[in-house]
Amino acid sequence: MEFRSLGRSGLKISEIAYGNWITHGSQVEEDAAKTCVAAALDEGITTFDTADVYAGTRAEEVLGRALHGQRREGLEIFTKVYWPTGPGQNDRGLSRKHIMESINGSLRRLQTDYVDLYQAHRFDNETPLEETLRAFDDIVRQGKALYIGVSEWRADEIAHALAIAEEMGFDRIISSQPQYSMLWRVIEEEVVPLCQAEGIGQIVWSPIAQGVLTGKYLPGQPPPAGSRATDEQGGDNFIKRLMTDDLLTRVQELKPIAQDAGLSMAQLAVAWVLQNPNVSAAIIGATRPEQVHDNVKASGVKLDAEILKRIDDVLGPEIVRDPAKTVSPAKRP
Ligand SMILES: NC(=O)c1ccc[n+]([C@@H]2O[C@H](COP(=O)([O-])OP(=O)(O)OC[C@H]3O[C@@H](n4cnc5c(N)ncnc54)[C@H](OP(=O)(O)O)[C@@H]3O)[C@@H](O)[C@H]2O)c1
Repeated sequence: MEFRSLGRSGLKISEIAYGNWITHGSQVEEDAAKTCVAAALDEGITTFDTADVYAGTRAEEVLGRALHGQRREGLEIFTKVYWPTGPGQNDRGLSRKHIMESINGSLRRLQTDYVDLYQAHRFDNETPLEETLRAFDDIVRQGKALYIGVSEWRADEIAHALAIAEEMGFDRIISSQPQYSMLWRVIEEEVVPLCQAEGIGQIVWSPIAQGVLTGKYLPGQPPPAGSRATDEQGGDNFIKRLMTDDLLTRVQELKPIAQDAGLSMAQLAVAWVLQNPNVSAAIIGATRPEQVHDNVKASGVKLDAEILKRIDDVLGPEIVRDPAKTVSPAKRP
């Protein structure tokens, strides 16, 4: 496993991180969750990503149990705040109240005194940015989080936060967690150039487009049993957008490219995001340990220009690049 700096900070993270959205506490049983975490640790993954909202807070509990007994200094544990974790008006968003309450819940569920990175899961259009940043700064000063980051924020939102932090002397954002894959490149035009200049690293999610880029979903055929597209607990909702025959047909055409590169399809997809030097880590998900063992082999892989061009040619119109697609809800959910 290779390691990268998280932005311009002193924190090193495994360039492949393990995340538990949709899986832990929901799609997969606890045993499967634990064997996936064990596989990740065996493969040298030290960076784990979760969120208070995943599986209605159960995902943090499962991860806490799966990592229990590990040397804390050997791990980087990331979580997030913003999406609802309870029925109340203040069980959501980035108000000082919810941030202060949610971090305590996350630490309890994760069985740790601090998280390495605390991330604003979306931009909160109903809370003054200064309030959020001051609360994050307090959490850092209290030692409950070591660094702060954001997820799915637009370039102008990140720039505004940096300006406030500079003016007020608040702790500075070191990371951005956007969706990024061969198919979804919306950060390239605005978020990445700003972050590159400002020393903010990307921790990218769904690098294999939730399983689609493995090529296991075939056009015109039902999804394989047990896959995310068949997850009746709600996981299938997120992958639906990608399940068109046009897109799945083009993905099949990536197979010879992966073969020529000597990689599995999943490895090609993970390696692709890691070619971007502003990416600090690719967060992979898994329902089975074999998937972890397969995907981690993307670490350290270099893809040559010809392979990259062939990927672009095959995916063509299916590639989404519009930076306006990075949007947070106008009102709190
Ligand atoms: N910040 C945000 O808003 C946000 C949003 C989403 C995700 N995330 C983070 O990113 C993490 C990863 O997201 P993701 O799970 O969508 O990532 P992903 O790596 O693109 O997809 C993972 C899923 O693909 C399938 N898969 C993985 N490897 C495979 C292989 N080798 N062969 C066949 N199938 C394979 C598995 O699902 P099946 O076996 O069920 O098919 C697995 O659960 C999350 O856990 C979370 O930490 C963040």
